[in-house]
Amino acid sequence: MKKIACVAGTRPEAIKMSSLIHELRRDEEFCVTVLATGQHTDMLTQALSDFGLTPDENLNIMRDRQTLDHIMSSVLQGAGEFLDAHPQDMVLVHGDTSTTFAAALAAFYRKIPVGHVEAGLRSHDLSLPFPEEANRVLTDRIASIFFAPTQGDADNLLREGTSPERIHITGNTVIDALYWILANKTHTSLELPEDRPVVLMTAHRRESWGQPLMDICSAVKDVINGRPDVLFVIPMHKNPAVRNVIRESLKDYGDNVILTEPLGYSEFVNVMNRSKFILSDSGGVQEEASAIDKPVLIMRTVSERPEAITHGTCILVGTGRESIRSEALSLLNDPERMREILTKNTRPFGKGDASMKIHDAVKRYFDE
Ligand code: UD1
Ligand code: UDP
Repeated sequence: MKKIACVAGTRPEAIKMSSLIHELRRDEEFCVTVLATGQHTDMLTQALSDFGLTPDENLNIMRDRQTLDHIMSSVLQGAGEFLDAHPQDMVLVHGDTSTTFAAALAAFYRKIPVGHVEAGLRSHDLSLPFPEEANRVLTDRIASIFFAPTQGDADNLLREGTSPERIHITGNTVIDALYWILANKTHTSLELPEDRPVVLMTAHRRESWGQPLMDICSAVKDVINGRPDVLFVIPMHKNPAVRNVIRESLKDYGDNVILTEPLGYSEFVNVMNRSKFILSDSGGVQEEASAIDKPVLIMRTVSERPEAITHGTCILVGTGRESIRSEALSLLNDPERMREILTKNTRPFGKGDASMKIHDAVKRYFDE
């Protein structure tokens, strides 16, 4: 029996690893451990529990307003100690967080093969997103087996010299999670009026802290001034650097803005479905929105998911107040523009069978 540790530190890792963990656990050849680093607390456990999962081990490293140094050093130390006490045949990490790279490095130091789920995405600018682009590139330098969501991601890895036989094109596991939640859960506690256009907004990126986030909030107010019937739903990230700014800026807009705690995944998907479009700087939301034909204005200057733009439903608008205002009002006022965006969508992130493909590839890796 092969021992596999699946690592998750933050909300998106939990969501995107969940179906893979269940898939591997159905195979009696594998003994699967869920190693939570606790880079996030409530947001991580909320997402895991949405999929019926609890950590087998939790390093509980989170501190309020933690630094990148703190996350890296404490996850490296904690994951290393875990792996010394519980040797593994493979460690599966996901994506581009500091948990991802630190846990991968702990495994690498112990010569345990690292499987990288969501490998190969590149913005080709190490400062965007920060520090995620670097985390992902560095993880790909030390991984042994690569699960690339798209052909473009695989091409990035090939250009960097990765052996083709180690790369598997799988689609993105977030689509597995999305389809599972749509089939199994439909939780709605938020009551949204039928007769008003709803816009979902999320923002949390490090590079947006400070002035860009204030500009985003000003743009939300501009949109409300242009369309007073609009209702924004804003689930606020737990980070005080984010929620304090959003709260302070939008506290007097109660008729047009619902400020909430982070939503459970099922509720979040419901709100995505109910929205006319989404304003977001999230990575995962770009992928999910393509799968449910929902336009997203991405509040970033570059995306490491170019397919979301060329073959999906996303448009880059940056964090500038005027650009967000004008694009949002155009989507609210111009149905033709909406249709134009949706017609190019080929749903590029897969069919919801990524976990199955990753499972097959992991089996073959051990059979070689
Ligand atoms: C992290 C990831 C980012 C990912 C995001 C998903 C890094 C460097 N950043 O960013 O790639 O897109 O998660 O959401 O890996 N907090 C809580 N409770 C929680 C979670 C966070 O209170 O459950 C607060 C804490 O004060 C914490 C702060 O938020 O210190 C920041 O958390 P951190 O993980 O460092 O950064 P994120 O912006 O969440
Ligand atoms: N999400 C959620 N509840 C929320 C906000 C987001 O379940 O209130 C989900 C969303 O559907 C996506 C993931 O969290 O799957 C994205 O997380 P986040 O934006 O924090 O991180 P990123 O994807 O940018 O790394």
